[in-house]
Amino acid sequence: MRLEPNPFSGKKRAPYPQHRRSPAPPTLAPEVRSDPSFPHFIHPHTDVITSDPHNNVTDHIFEKIGYNLHKRPDHPLGIIKSVIESYFDEKYGQDTFTSYDSLYPVVSTYANFDSVLVPPDHVSRSQNDTYYVDEDTVLRCHTSAHQLEMLKDGARKFLVTGDVYRRDSIDATHFPVFHQMEGFRVFEQAEWEEAGKESVDLAAEELKDCLEGLAKHLFGDVEMRWVDAYFPFTEPSFELEIFFKGEWLEVLGCGVTEMKILEEAGLQDKRAWAFGLGLERLAMVLFDIPDIRLFWSDDKRFSKQFKEGMFKAGGVDMQKFKPYSKFPPCLKDVSFWLPKEGDSFTENNLCEVVRDVAGSLVEEVKLIDEFENKKKGLTSNCYRIVYRSMERSLTDDEINSLQEQVRSDMVSKLGVELR
Ligand code: DAH
Repeated sequence: MRLEPNPFSGKKRAPYPQHRRSPAPPTLAPEVRSDPSFPHFIHPHTDVITSDPHNNVTDHIFEKIGYNLHKRPDHPLGIIKSVIESYFDEKYGQDTFTSYDSLYPVVSTYANFDSVLVPPDHVSRSQNDTYYVDEDTVLRCHTSAHQLEMLKDGARKFLVTGDVYRRDSIDATHFPVFHQMEGFRVFEQAEWEEAGKESVDLAAEELKDCLEGLAKHLFGDVEMRWVDAYFPFTEPSFELEIFFKGEWLEVLGCGVTEMKILEEAGLQDKRAWAFGLGLERLAMVLFDIPDIRLFWSDDKRFSKQFKEGMFKAGGVDMQKFKPYSKFPPCLKDVSFWLPKEGDSFTENNLCEVVRDVAGSLVEEVKLIDEFENKKKGLTSNCYRIVYRSMERSLTDDEINSLQEQVRSDMVSKLGVELR
């Protein structure tokens, strides 16, 4: 299984003329603060699809805002979220960690990148990787976007769960919207003095102890290992891997928070740790869910299999997901010459074009052939698009018209020449 990408280890889309106002409440939750002293963070009621030249949010993505799958108690994502929250209650005492799950997903580039020290030239800032509303506003690509905001707001031990958005390739484990949980804990000077330790050592040790306990809570008695990692917001940084069903699986990223972030929040005399994890990834592994699109399915055959409170550590004696018969896939290949100049063609841009036409009917987009014609000075690609519905059989006519639309959008939006 491909890992959830660590974004820390393109040409712009044609602007969309429409305006789409993202849903106000319930997306806009009580904990979205309106204190004017944090102007960087507040974007309630923002138009998400606009004619701004930086805007690359499609209808398909826009429609996902406000779904809040992680807030549904009987949904696998809601189940995993509450299992993790109860671990924190059990370990540290009820409500020691405050949980936030309604923070608004439209954030400033300052919050998403600068506030967590993502370098100015980092790839994750490109329009190829991130959904921009305008030059200064994005759909958050990680829940880390809220760290500084929460600290400034006075939170010291907290969990933030939310939907995050990334332009990405398409396959069974990648969907442009998924859900993350962020954890954050601030330590006081008295705590490391009492322990007789350097602050950074206390934070790192407590972090590892906390997350090893979490992994046991989720996976049962498993083998685990720590791997050194890099994130701009932590030093040292680690990833936790567990040995599950015969393979090492990355479950989360974490580390000791960079002092610069604490200083920015006026907490220069403190220390902190942070972690971030992807809920889909955990739920797919723990419940045996084979395709990430199923999380978005309305099909009763899916939803009826999950109930609040059903989770048992490691999946022992727990009912796993029972796959129901899949509808047949339909494969369509498209061959084309890449534009000679410019960066209008990237795999992410192609995926976005396909998603915009076919929505969740597209299962996979993969490169199956590539060659260079030296004489012409051109490169040819052939991509295979796999269409499949989770809910019904698709007709030939329906697929053909989707594919025709994809082909014509590839020419007009990506500047390719069909072969
Ligand atoms: N934001 C990271 C990501 O999206 C995950 C993460 C890693 C969050 C380390 C953290 C952290 O708070 O300390 O991949």
